[in-house]
Parts: sequence; structure tokens; C-alpha cells
Amino acid sequence: MTTVRDSRDFSPQLRAAMVSELRSMGAITSDRVAQAVAAVPRHLFVPGQPLEAVYAADHALVIKRDPDGAATSSLSSAHIQSVMLEQAEIVPGMRVLEIGSGGYNAALIAELVGETGEVVSIDIDPEITERARACLDSAGYERVKVVVGDAEHGVPGEDAFDRIVVTAGAWDIPPAWRTQLTARGRLIVPLRLKGVTRTIAFEADGEGLASVSYLLSGFVPMQGDGQHHERVLAVGDDESWGLRVDEGAPDFDAAGLRAALVHTRVERWSGAAFDLPDELELFLLTRGGPHMVMLHARQALVEQGVFAPSALRGVPVLVSDDGSFAYRIKRENPDVGGFESGVIAHGPAAGQVADEYVDLLRHWARDHPRRGAATIGYIPTGGPTEHAVEGIPKRHGTVAITWC
Ligand SMILES: C[S@@+](CC[C@H](N)C(=O)[O-])C[C@H]1O[C@@H](n2cnc3c(N)ncnc32)[C@H](O)[C@@H]1O
Repeated sequence: MTTVRDSRDFSPQLRAAMVSELRSMGAITSDRVAQAVAAVPRHLFVPGQPLEAVYAADHALVIKRDPDGAATSSLSSAHIQSVMLEQAEIVPGMRVLEIGSGGYNAALIAELVGETGEVVSIDIDPEITERARACLDSAGYERVKVVVGDAEHGVPGEDAFDRIVVTAGAWDIPPAWRTQLTARGRLIVPLRLKGVTRTIAFEADGEGLASVSYLLSGFVPMQGDGQHHERVLAVGDDESWGLRVDEGAPDFDAAGLRAALVHTRVERWSGAAFDLPDELELFLLTRGGPHMVMLHARQALVEQGVFAPSALRGVPVLVSDDGSFAYRIKRENPDVGGFESGVIAHGPAAGQVADEYVDLLRHWARDHPRRGAATIGYIPTGGPTEHAVEGIPKRHGTVAITWC
């Protein structure tokens, strides 16, 4: 990180350095996004913050916290902002809606749509919109329109948008986002699926939506009418380990899981390479059915050897009816050219649940070991194909994932 003393002298060089870092990370792939990031003075949107933090490519800055200390608004990292703008493929003249304001990302979008385009940014928090308005004005982006409101209901009185870029973690896709999108429009949304987030670029597909790209991401959660509280089923004492469970998920038996942990322990190796962990994670969570959820364990339990390190940051776990469970591990194995995937399973049915999990690991390694192998569909409730679809249930529809 460059040490900076004088913002007036150094910010253009810092922007140029950030652009080349974002290019080398693969976050910026087009000249248009590179030019926008090089043009907007990011530091004017977080006055008083050290420039080296503002211009670090992969660093988010918290703008506001709730009374419990959780972030409710942040300046997202330039990395995720660039990735999402690349996914959006914004061209001059477009009308773009940004959900979640801050000013900086709206200014980047204003650069991309040019003088003939329009940018509207909506935030639920009037303190944030006021702040965003002031920052946009001071940076010379008076033409960005900033409004207060709950984006769950779209932006009343506005025509359809060519792009909707959502910058808060959504649990679902409210109908207003689809109806306020032009027929050939694109919605870019960080969508929460079974305890993980993927930023998905969707386009219209029949009565619903289909993804054109998706990537791992993380965002502050959506507030308002679309808010969703994820349930964490505490299994161990003091919440030392547990499952992250979605609305509508089966009821898991904490006592059965606790008993399984001290029962038989089985280790199995798949013989398959462990690669592209985020793609494999999505495959396991969506192909493993409702009994595949995210397992989390605290550091102390990993250090004591109760859980493998994979459980620390969260790992898909397959749970059987009697509480037996299996989760993914890895080891170095030159025979597979790097790491090999495997499982640890506990409980009376440990062998069975381990075999089922290993089959999934082998299936992914054989048929889908690449980026973008999934197509994520969204089928709204009430449409003609609603009942023909199996997938992850949401309030307004179903997420159905196909792998090719
Ligand atoms: C990560 S911040 C936005 C960052 C911003 N786009 C930037 O340029 O840095 C997420 C924002 O979403 C807002 N938000 C959360 N729920 C919302 C909702 N239902 N409608 C509109 N805004 C919402 C929060 O108040 C927060 O300011």
C-alpha cells in the first residue's frame, strides 16, 4: 500500500494505480469501466478517510452502523463495484437505477451512461441519501438523481430502467424490480442463497429471469419490507458451532447433531481435485437438496481438532434425518495436481451420508469443474410454470439452478 500525505497531489496517481491493480485482479476487463474508475475521485465520497484505505482495490469502508455495531451502509470495495459494472455492461444513453446509495458507485455509473443517459439512486435511509447528495454535488455529479425510499417497491413515478444495479444483499427479487426493467434490461443483484451470496446478472427469460453471469460476493443486508433474518441454529454450547438455515428450510434437530458429533467419525477421499471452491460450494448447496446447508464452527473447536479448518469460514454440510452429518475437507495430493476433496462424517449413518457427499464431489469434478457452469433461473410465483419448478423457495418466486 502506498503511503500518502497530500490528497491533492496524489489522488490521480492512486486512481491509476488502483485501475491497474483491478485489471490485474480481473475485476476490470473493459476500457470503459477502467476510464470511469480513473475519472471519479473516490476520496470525495468518504471525506476524512486515509487515502491509502480509500484507494486500496479490495477494501470496503463502513459508513454507518446500527446500535448493535453491524454495518448498515458502506462504501463497497472498488473490486466488487468494478465486477458488478462489468456484469452490467452499461453503455452511453442508458437509464440506470442504483439501489443503495453512497454516491461513488452512482458517479461511476454516470460516467458510463454519459451526458445522454440518466442515473437514479435510491436508499431507504435519509441520512445516507443526504450524504450521497452532498458528495455527488461536491464531485460534480449534480445530474445523478437521489431519492429516499424502500426499493422493495421500486421507484414510483419512474419509467423502466435499462439496468438495475442492487448494492445491498437481497434475499429475494421483488416484483417491482422485474416490472421496472425494460424488456431487454439487466438486473445485477447480490442474492442470498442458502447462507451464501452470489452477485448475479439476470435478464428476462419468459415469465421470469435467467442469469448471464454470477460471482461470489458479500454485502450489507437489505432493510425494509424485503428484509430477511437468516436463522442460525446453534448446536454447540455458546453457539460454538451451528447451521445457517434459510426461511422454509427443514427443521434440523440440534440434539441429534450434538449426539452425532461424539459418535463414529468417518473420513473419505473423493480422488477428485478440489478447485474453484466458490463454484463447488454453489453446486453442493443447490444439488444437495434441502438437507445441505452451511455449517459454521468457531476457531477454538478447529484448534481442538473437533472440526476441520473448512468449517471455520462456513462449509456445506449434508444432514441426515437422525442428525448424522458430513462436510467437505481437503488435502494436498500431487496425483490430482494440487488439492483433493474429501469428507468427514459423524453419527450413526456417517458412512451413508459420507458416500452421498463424495458422490456429489465426484459429480462436480467430472461434469462441471469450471467457472459459470450454473444458470440461475428465477421463476416468479403465480406464473404458468410455477408448480413445475423445483428449487430454492423465496417469497415472490423460486430460484432454480441448472448445471451444464
Ligand atoms: C453497500 S451500501 C451502498 C453503497 C453504494 N452503492 C456506494 O456507492 O458506495 C448499501 C445501502 O443499501 C441501503 N439499503 C438497504 N436496504 C434498502 C432498501 N430496502 N431500499 C433502498 N436502500 C436500501 C442501505 O441503507 C445502504 O446505504
